[in-house]
Amino acid sequence: MTKIALVTGGNKGIGFETVKQLAQQNIKVLLGARNETDGKKAEEVLRGLSLDVTYIKLDISNSEDIANVASYIESEYGVLDILVNNAAVFLDDAWFGNNVEIVTLQTLRDTFDINYFGTVELTQALLPAIKKSECGRIVNISSVSGSFGVHLDEAHWLYALKPYAYSASKTALNQFTVFLAHALRETKIKVNAANPGWVQTSIGSDQAPLTAEEGAKTGIALALLDENGPSGTFSQSGEVLPW
Ligand SMILES: NC(=O)c1ccc[n+]([C@@H]2O[C@H](COP(=O)([O-])OP(=O)(O)OC[C@H]3O[C@@H](n4cnc5c(N)ncnc54)[C@H](OP(=O)(O)O)[C@@H]3O)[C@@H](O)[C@H]2O)c1
Repeated sequence: MTKIALVTGGNKGIGFETVKQLAQQNIKVLLGARNETDGKKAEEVLRGLSLDVTYIKLDISNSEDIANVASYIESEYGVLDILVNNAAVFLDDAWFGNNVEIVTLQTLRDTFDINYFGTVELTQALLPAIKKSECGRIVNISSVSGSFGVHLDEAHWLYALKPYAYSASKTALNQFTVFLAHALRETKIKVNAANPGWVQTSIGSDQAPLTAEEGAKTGIALALLDENGPSGTFSQSGEVLPW
């Protein structure tokens, strides 16, 4: 039977590539995007490649959109096999330095509304459909910037880069990954966090070494894990990362 997947923030960057690579595996992919014009444009490009992709309006910070998507999936398919929580924002002023003393609460709230609360709300709303899958996979696209281990390691290349709002939101997302994997440990569902690497996108910048196509690979591998695969992990390209 054809698997059904949903990717958030599928209109560009790593999300767009994730939609594409999942659809290339003959999976039916719902391309979530908050902007209708961008979402439909992305859908058109991928359908032009004969891929089974359908745009769905989804701003993950909008509870009404989340409820609509959950009921659409329930009525149209009755099941969701793969959820890739990819959508996120970077609202700190800069990647470099440590802004923890001056970052505004508004920036923190706006970042958490999307990167954390939106992702949690959407995942909770879709869990009933994911529980009906024979092989439910939840992939949280996190960041090494959310890792305590990395931020405590003076030798790590990211040590000097401490944008607080973005990093803390990804730390919270990592904890969600651990707790959800634990809650679902007796089911077939696997929940894992992926670090895409440093990727050429609006969040990652033109200077990044990886293309979006390459950056999508870790999430794709976790979305396609077989029944023996792990749950509750944080990794990049198969290499386990410190929480
Ligand atoms: N690029 C990197 O180096 C890097 C490294 C580590 C982790 N990541 C993670 O990779 C993921 C993808 O980011 P990217 O690098 O591909 O950046 P990107 O090109 O800026 O893509 C971000 C996507 O998220 C969407 N989005 C933002 N807020 C949303 C909301 N409220 N509802 C729905 N969609 C929303 C954006 O939509 P709009 O087009 O409407 O803004 C866009 O489609 C993110 O989780 C990011 O944290 C990236």
